[in-house]
Amino acid sequence: MTEYDCRELAELDKKCFSVPWSEQSFLEETKNKLATYLLAREDGKIIGYCGFWRVSGEAQVTNIAVLPEYRRRKIAKTLAEKMLEICKEDEQIVLEVRKSNEIAITFYKKLGFIEAGIRKRFYHNPDEDGITMIRRIK
Ligand SMILES: CC(C)(COP(=O)(O)OP(=O)(O)OC[C@H]1O[C@@H](n2cnc3c(N)ncnc32)[C@H](O)[C@@H]1OP(=O)(O)O)[C@@H](O)C(=O)NCCC(=O)NCCS
Repeated sequence: MTEYDCRELAELDKKCFSVPWSEQSFLEETKNKLATYLLAREDGKIIGYCGFWRVSGEAQVTNIAVLPEYRRRKIAKTLAEKMLEICKEDEQIVLEVRKSNEIAITFYKKLGFIEAGIRKRFYHNPDEDGITMIRRIK
């Protein structure tokens, strides 16, 4: 991800989340040395992305999203598998997901993530609990 991708990513986010990240949020991530963002493109257009931070042997997923019209084509799976490859020396990958986001929970379980806890009212717009999911690596 470079600064030139950030506007397009913010537009993608609007189509995928009720609380999308702004262009400025993505720009800040380009300067974050702990962050990695993998982008999926088709004919130059960004159609999905996966972001994560790696700190002290643990990776924390910030977001995974694919444009609605490109879903169910294993794009998120390919991005997540690449993340797993990059994080193969880490102990685990952790993420939060909205309790009602059954599609994402199914998606993560298929990748070997398990539910590890609840974070009360972690999300806003609408207010909702978050489920913490963990994928052990080592
Ligand atoms: C979750 C998301 C990233 C999945 O992206 P995708 O590219 O469509 O997913 P894939 O095609 O790689 O799916 C891999 C597997 O996940 C599961 N899955 C994905 N979408 C599913 C759906 N709509 N219903 C049921 N299972 C689904 C399936 O097991 C699927 O394998 P299969 O197609 O062989 O059955 C996408 O739906 C999305 O962007 N959602 C909105 C943003 C979001 O909620 N992100 C997660 C934030 S924590």
